[in-house]
Parts: sequence; structure tokens; C-alpha cells
Amino acid sequence: MNSNRIKFFAIAIITLPLFVLLMINTNTTRTYARVDDDAATVYKTKCQACHSPKAEKFFDPAKPQEEQVTAILKGKKSEKPPYMPAFEEKGITADQAKALVDYMKTLKTPSN
Ligand code: HEC
Repeated sequence: MNSNRIKFFAIAIITLPLFVLLMINTNTTRTYARVDDDAATVYKTKCQACHSPKAEKFFDPAKPQEEQVTAILKGKKSEKPPYMPAFEEKGITADQAKALVDYMKTLKTPSN
């Protein structure tokens, strides 16, 4: 083995855990909602993956707003995953949750 190769492996071994740490880090920061984000942006980044771009999954617009807001703030545990996460602890306020429910309704029942 020549010394260049040894150097390469040494660098790889040192930098790999740093990369992993960095990825874990950006992941956790990404789940935090910025307060100034509007409903459309929050929905796209934090809800769409589970609820689909048109809010067709796990969302019944006929349910009372109160219940839906609570689901967003406190989460909801169904029988099997995916579970609705609690978003209050991630910085979503009741007002934002209301806006999100309204936004999801517009997605599900397109007016155009
Ligand atoms: C990890 C997947 C996942 C993510 C991310 C997620 N949800 Fe959910 N959500 C669910 C599931 C699953 C349910 C259904 C839970 C049940 O009924 O038991 C649900 C339920 C809901 C409900 C109640 C719907 C109803 O008709 O009862 C609302 C409202 C809701 N989510 C909004 C949101 C919003 C807003 C976001 C983003 C801030 C979001 N969800 C992110 C999985 C997710």
C-alpha cells in the first residue's frame, strides 16, 4: 500500500463521522417550523410527504376545525405508522394550525 492510499483512508475515516453528524443535525433543524413561514410553505416542507400534494391522504375536510387543529398541535396516534406528529413542540402555533387546515381544504377542494 502506498502512502497516498493510507492518507486517503485516514481522511475518509476522520471525515465520515463528521458528515453523518452534519446530516443528522440538518435533519433535526429542518423539522422546526419558522414562525414567519406561510401555510403553503409549511405544508410543502412539513406535511406534503405524508398528506400528499393535494391533501388527499389522512385528511377529512368535513371534520370539525377544532379537531384538526388539535391533531396538528398535539399529533395523533393511529394504529400503525405513519403517525401524525405533534407540531406544537416544533413551533407551530394554533393560528398557524388553523391556517394550515384552511390551506389543506383549498388543496382538497379545488375551486378552479
Ligand atoms: C409522518 C407523517 C405525517 C406528517 C409529516 C404530517 N401528518 Fe398530518 N396526519 C398523519 C396521519 C397518519 C394522520 C391521521 C391520524 C389518524 O387519524 O389517526 C394525520 C392527521 C392529520 C390531521 C387530522 C385530519 C383529520 O381529518 O382528522 C390534520 C389536520 C393534519 N394531519 C395536518 C397536518 C399538517 C398541517 C402537517 C404539517 C405541519 C402534517 N399533518 C404532517 C400523518 C402526517
